Amino acid sequence: MTLILGIESSCDDTAAAVVGADRVILSNRVFSQTDLHADFGGIVPEIAARAHAERLDIVAEAALAEAGVMLSDIDLIAVTAGPGLIGGVLSGVMFAKGLAAGAGKPLIGVNHLAGHALTPRLTDGVPFPYLMLLVSGGHCQFLAVTGPDDFTRMGSTIDDAPGEAFDKTAKLLGLPQPGGPLVEAEAANGDPRRFAFPRPLLDRPGCDMSFSGLKTALRRARDMIVEEKGGITRQDRAELCASFQQAVADVLARKTARALAAFTELHGASTIAVAGGVAANATIRAGLQRAADEAGFTFTAPPLKLCTDNGAMIAWAGWERFDAGLTEDTLTARPRWPLD
Ligand code: KG4
Ligand code: ZN
Repeated sequence: MTLILGIESSCDDTAAAVVGADRVILSNRVFSQTDLHADFGGIVPEIAARAHAERLDIVAEAALAEAGVMLSDIDLIAVTAGPGLIGGVLSGVMFAKGLAAGAGKPLIGVNHLAGHALTPRLTDGVPFPYLMLLVSGGHCQFLAVTGPDDFTRMGSTIDDAPGEAFDKTAKLLGLPQPGGPLVEAEAANGDPRRFAFPRPLLDRPGCDMSFSGLKTALRRARDMIVEEKGGITRQDRAELCASFQQAVADVLARKTARALAAFTELHGASTIAVAGGVAANATIRAGLQRAADEAGFTFTAPPLKLCTDNGAMIAWAGWERFDAGLTEDTLTARPRWPLD
């Protein structure tokens, strides 16, 4: 079996995985840096780069060991070459270059977003074409995926990504980072109808989205409560979280319905897949599932470990490129690298 080692270090996870070309994941190791950045209220690029450099060989060794293979058994090394924090991307690319040169293995650079976008083919064998909604802390876009190197953006956020909005909401309400899961947990105890937060851009045609106004509305609502009562209660917080989450879910569901209609005109109904950490949110997923059902699409979400940043998606995307003959002679690290 053809074996691919995938390496990812573009954000705050150092990850490596061994994947078989027949869609088997033999190992998938992720070292999270959440603890390292916890005191800073966000990711510190210099700390991230150093941590990646220190951990890449450990995580790659661990992935090989867990897969029960040696580097000499690997047929292809794939590494994230961008977009992302350049220090981390460079650490990964340099490490992978050294590994490939030392072991005499072919090396391929992968776009991190392509890794997310091609994941449903690894997990569910979804055929081209399909629609992908990528919703994470740094990204929010609809992609029509028609081939291993063919992505058409059908809409994206014009400001914050939804995960970023969840994280900022958590910060405003005194919850730790990353805020998404905590905001979702709080929201479970609150009435989402208490605060009428805006649903930005719904009155405009197209599939572009906006989430930064939501954060401002939330801050204003919080400040008003504080002014009235001197502080916010547990119940206030739950209701702020629930109303915020419902607004994000509504915007994503409504824009998804539009994206599905536009996709259907071009390709016919097919599959919609999600990826990114925000795809873990049950209320958001339910909204997407409904939109898919109404449009006659199949809805698929990879297991959470493959929705968030990981090495398996990079290994798989590297293999798809390699298999399609999409190899290039030089591999450079790029902080920005749009898919289309
Ligand atoms: O894909 P990911 O692990 O990393 C990148 O951003 O690339 O996504 C992390 C983001 C964070 O902003 C986190 O707060 C958000 O996903 N997130 C969630 C949930 N779990 C993680 N947002 C809403 N609800 C969740 N359950
Ligand atoms: Zn990502």
